Amino acid sequence: MTTTLPDGFLWGVAAAAHQIEGGNWNNDWWAWEHAPNTPCLEVSGDCCDSLNRYAEDIALIRDLGFPSYRFSIEWSRIEPEDGEFSIAALDYYRRVLATCHENGVQPLVTFHHFTTPRWMAQRGGWHEREIVDKFARFCEKSVGHLGDLISMGCTINEPNVVSMLGYLQGTFPPGLRDFKLYGQASENLRDAHTRSYDILKAGPGDFPVGLTVSMSDWWSPEGGEAGMERARAMHEDFYLEAARGNDFIGVQAYTRVRIGLDGLPMDPDPDVPVIESMGYEYWPQSLEISIRHAIDVTGAPVYVTENGIGIGDDETRVKFVTESLQGVERCLADGLDVRGYIYWSLLDNFEWAEGYKPLFGLVQVDRETFVRTPKPSAAWLGALAKANQLP
Ligand code: BGC
Repeated sequence: MTTTLPDGFLWGVAAAAHQIEGGNWNNDWWAWEHAPNTPCLEVSGDCCDSLNRYAEDIALIRDLGFPSYRFSIEWSRIEPEDGEFSIAALDYYRRVLATCHENGVQPLVTFHHFTTPRWMAQRGGWHEREIVDKFARFCEKSVGHLGDLISMGCTINEPNVVSMLGYLQGTFPPGLRDFKLYGQASENLRDAHTRSYDILKAGPGDFPVGLTVSMSDWWSPEGGEAGMERARAMHEDFYLEAARGNDFIGVQAYTRVRIGLDGLPMDPDPDVPVIESMGYEYWPQSLEISIRHAIDVTGAPVYVTENGIGIGDDETRVKFVTESLQGVERCLADGLDVRGYIYWSLLDNFEWAEGYKPLFGLVQVDRETFVRTPKPSAAWLGALAKANQLP
């Protein structure tokens, strides 16, 4: 049984500069990977060498049948020092965008995907108020140079992960556990979204702009509901509220969060399978719940800007995506405005502190030759995209 989707439903695949380009040495993540005593299992190194192989990636996306490609532009390449902009780097991303159009692939551009230039990180990073102006200036320059070629814009990828992992869990740079700085970083991230939203809307081009938020299904034992709601409001609603009135909200869902009676995250339920590479629950139900919650809070149209599974077993990938898409189908049947599904990720790539072990890609990448080999799931999902149908 298949269900045909509304015309214009946007299928695609996603990636981010630091996870695929390689040699992104001038940002806080590269520094973090090379610093002693961080939880990073590996360094990013050459990644998938997409810096040089972007045309191959885009041709692959076209051949597989996906009409869109979500990727990020790297702030530290475009502005390698404070106020020093590289026209060559901007021209490089113009060529990437033009290559998308030549192949009939719509480029969806993320302006910040977890990485911050070293010069800004050295001044404190996201908890420093001046980052709001610095990021706004970067967006203005970038959209000025690239806006006419952009099909859709995402301001900041998962600001809630940047603040939570960087300032409470300490697993992302700057590696802190500091509630006060977490609060400051959260406010700055939210304000940077609001500022950059207006800048992207005012720039050349006329493309929809939105925010992407990491979302989940949330659970607590009986008696813990109030604490769980507080945690969810802090992690999700704080950002979702800033996207009210935006062109869209990008929902990104992977797993479930369990909050204990003490208000802190719990381990996975022993009765639920765990995705070993990520240490979290196999929980495809999350996508539907996240879409519904995003619409409840923002009232904005939804694009699923990320959903996927980091696993070697490709059949389980197909199962996970099928179950996630069934949730999309239930949302559409209820008349909810869901406009697209973008799988994370095109390639097996650098999964932050977890290194190269989690395999989110539809396409395998040889770590020495960089040869790309599509997995069966790539043809399967590409065929659904071509037919604009759900499984
Ligand atoms: C991030 C990606 C990441 C993916 C899988 C999202 O949180 O935006 O950069 O690779 O999840 O963990």
